[in-house]
Amino acid sequence: MASVAELVRAGIQQLSDTSDSARTDVEVLLCHLLKKPRSFLFTWPEHEVSPAQTQQFYDWLTQRCEGQPVAYLIGRRHFYSHEFLVSADTLIPRADTEILVDAVLARLPDKAACRVADLGTGTGAIAISLALARPHWLLEAVDFSVAILDLVQRNVSRLKADNVCILQSNWCARLQGKFDAIVSNPPYIAEDDRHLQQGDVRFEPRSALTAGADGLDDIRIIVEQSKAHLHHKGLLALEHGYDQGEAVREIFSAHGYARIETLLDLGGRDRVTLGYAD
Ligand SMILES: C[S@@+](CC[C@H](N)C(=O)[O-])C[C@H]1O[C@@H](n2cnc3c(N)ncnc32)[C@H](O)[C@@H]1O
Repeated sequence: MASVAELVRAGIQQLSDTSDSARTDVEVLLCHLLKKPRSFLFTWPEHEVSPAQTQQFYDWLTQRCEGQPVAYLIGRRHFYSHEFLVSADTLIPRADTEILVDAVLARLPDKAACRVADLGTGTGAIAISLALARPHWLLEAVDFSVAILDLVQRNVSRLKADNVCILQSNWCARLQGKFDAIVSNPPYIAEDDRHLQQGDVRFEPRSALTAGADGLDDIRIIVEQSKAHLHHKGLLALEHGYDQGEAVREIFSAHGYARIETLLDLGGRDRVTLGYAD
């Protein structure tokens, strides 16, 4: 039988040519396999791993060498300190998107029973994180894919986000009534962007990633449609590409939104644009 220390060493060696996060990948895979915290790997390096678990670990390493994201291998990813189930039907939540959650929490009144829609909810990461931070708000988690809505329901149940309702809709088409805020991390990559051939995005569905020739098709639709669904002074907050800030501000402005601003991501680049309906 192989020990934890042997598997850590072998895993890092196997991934070192193909992954620039080899050590982290190995630690995440082993912790998930053994159902132990990261500290276990250092406290019990001599712990013997069963042959079946060892085989599973090597199968994952092979898939990781082929480029499969670790989150898809273990079916989980942390976002805003919560563990979300993920599937190949949608995007793996990204740390940069936490900025969108922070921005909405900072701008809407804490105590009021705000109504917020998350368009293109994917795993439900944004809607559920907002719902757990503000249990008296009402969140509507919207996506057009039935497979995704099943995943959202499982995340809602596991995380006990009782103030989230789930709606199948093509952007705002089936929204009812008005909202205090509409938020979205929509697809925003240009269809011919060379980054689509690199890293994790190769394995993520195109329907979650691309939006026309300049990547802005869905943002144009959401900005236009949202106006009819926002209360007076309601907030629209959208994530976008690092080089799309100016174009997104112009789209907001063309539709009459006020107090438009763009927030930076963890790397100091344009990432989230906000505006208020008149
Ligand atoms: C970039 S992913 C974002 C997922 C999640 N909100 C997150 O931040 O991790 C975009 C999501 O928009 C959904 N989507 C794409 N087109 C849509 C449409 N016309 N109506 C509703 N949702 C759509 C996709 O299914 C996908 O889940």
